Amino acid sequence: MAVPVLKSAPVLEVANLEVVYKNAVIALRGVSLTVAEGQVVAVLGANGAGKTTLVRAITGLLFVHDGAIRDGAILLRGEDLGRMSCAQIVSRGVCQVPEGRMLFPSLTVEENLKMGSMTRRDRAGISQDLERIYELFPILGDRRRQEARWLSGGEQQMVAVGRALMARPRLLICDELSLGLAPQIVETLFEMLARLNREDGLSVLLIEQNARMALEYAAYGYILETGRVVLDGPAPQLRDNEDVQEFYLGGGEHVSISYSAIKHYKRRKRWLS
Ligand SMILES: Nc1ncnc2c1ncn2[C@@H]1O[C@H](COP(=O)(O)OP(=O)(O)OP(=O)(O)O)[C@@H](O)[C@H]1O
Ligand SMILES: [Mg+2]
Repeated sequence: MAVPVLKSAPVLEVANLEVVYKNAVIALRGVSLTVAEGQVVAVLGANGAGKTTLVRAITGLLFVHDGAIRDGAILLRGEDLGRMSCAQIVSRGVCQVPEGRMLFPSLTVEENLKMGSMTRRDRAGISQDLERIYELFPILGDRRRQEARWLSGGEQQMVAVGRALMARPRLLICDELSLGLAPQIVETLFEMLARLNREDGLSVLLIEQNARMALEYAAYGYILETGRVVLDGPAPQLRDNEDVQEFYLGGGEHVSISYSAIKHYKRRKRWLS
């Protein structure tokens, strides 16, 4: 008798998600995506594509921005996140490294890190996790008593990642981790995520404009444009896709045009030739 192959259940399933701000601006128009347990998945898109909106929807923070889920569902291991508070979502192991880091500038590195463990009561576990973060990012150990405002951009981003890890996430969502950072720092941060993925089975959703870097680390990718997924596939397939190369990997002359625009342009080119 053939042994059935059990595919691991998705940790996150977003199905036909529609999000609207102020009851007027539609920011996501039927977005669907899946993150399997222990997988690194990339969501790529230009400014205004709806990436942060997706993060807000998953982490229960839409209401802060006068946004709401109008249709569709967000399931965490089958459980509906759409009806939960952000605290409930964090307690289920979903944490984010927010766009712009959002550190407390006048608090020390260690105080910022501890903010991530505010909902935890296991003091021994918290100290252990702090030490793990200092092991992962030795520079933060050296600077633990320094106010966050005096750190470089890269070090601040390390604190933001460390703070999210202090909540012991099972799914970590990083909103534009690479923004404004030198390539070497970005590589350090992504290597760290890859290590946590390998060693702890952490699932990661990389929300990025840096397609080259994200597709190097992710197994699967989605391309988001004006609130819609216009393309998805395994990372190597996306990297090899001519249009993705042209528009997201800086391979061509049309880098400022969108993926759907090039489709249109190519169709026109075919018709005209
Ligand atoms: N609070 C808000 N109220 C109204 N519209 C909003 C609000 N926040 C975002 N939007 C709109 O929703 C759309 C998606 O924005 P979002 O911030 O999700 O894009 P993004 O892909 O994260 O862009 P960026 O790369 O610039 O961070 C944009 O058209 C934006 O203007
Ligand atoms: Mg954004």
